[in-house]
Amino acid sequence: MIRVDNLGKIFKDKKRGEVLALQDVSFRVKEGEIFALLGPNGAGKTTTLRILSTLIRPTSGDAYISQFSVQKHKEDVRKLIGVVSYETGVYERMTPVEIGYYFGRLNDIDDAEIGKNLEYIFHLLRMRDFVDQRTETFSSGMKQKTVIMRALVTNPQVLIFDEPTSGLDLLTAKNVMDYIRLLRENGKTILFSTHILWEAEKLADRIGIIHKGDLVENGSLEVLRQKTGKRDLEEIFFSIVGAKNDLLLATEAPRSQRV
Ligand SMILES: Nc1ncnc2c1ncn2[C@@H]1O[C@H](COP(=O)(O)OP(=O)(O)OP(=O)(O)O)[C@@H](O)[C@H]1O
Ligand SMILES: [Mg+2]
Repeated sequence: MIRVDNLGKIFKDKKRGEVLALQDVSFRVKEGEIFALLGPNGAGKTTTLRILSTLIRPTSGDAYISQFSVQKHKEDVRKLIGVVSYETGVYERMTPVEIGYYFGRLNDIDDAEIGKNLEYIFHLLRMRDFVDQRTETFSSGMKQKTVIMRALVTNPQVLIFDEPTSGLDLLTAKNVMDYIRLLRENGKTILFSTHILWEAEKLADRIGIIHKGDLVENGSLEVLRQKTGKRDLEEIFFSIVGAKNDLLLATEAPRSQRV
């Protein structure tokens, strides 16, 4: 359902010059699967998800949602996906109900279905108390719920979540995780990023560990266990990320000695 082929991304930054955010990242997410992109700050998670969401173009490689290229068939891709990220704004003058109907109608969904979807989403995300308030006074958690609602109202095939539980309290975070599972049971394909190990461990069918723009490992927890000889994801993560750091230090050492 999602195919990522050799993605590379170089940002041209005024201060930092060329920033290599992704190098040759490839992975696949099958239909009905939950895939977690796990990595530390600055690893390239958001960059990967923004490319898949058609918001930015890669420098090299391509990615596909179903058969559609995120570069060549942006509109087709957008119809298939729902995106949740901290970048997604909410209209301050509108209420969650108004935003839900607005996006639903934009996507040609009839009002009865929008109403039905919203009922369910509001219940699930515990939003009922504030669905008729303008979002301008919302806390970050309330805004995050509104953004998730907006992504779900169209009932998309593929969901792309950049750190879906950030800013949410424990109870709501758990609800979101339960909902992600429920979406999979309904045949949706889900790609989410996180730096919270237990989220990846609990939710994902497969995990891709990304570090410094490089997808270092990718597979089910069982596969990652076999590859590393470690049992829990924390040990696996640090053995992979740590090993890569050692490698970098080793290759950088002669250069620093030259200075
Ligand atoms: N617009 C941009 N211009 C320049 N550099 C950028 C830009 N966006 C991202 N980067 C750089 O690309 C690299 C990857 O960033 P990215 O946001 O993808 O990381 P991340 O894994 O999502 O991190 P976090 O966990 O902090 O959200 C970082 O070095 C970042 O500074
Ligand atoms: Mg990010």
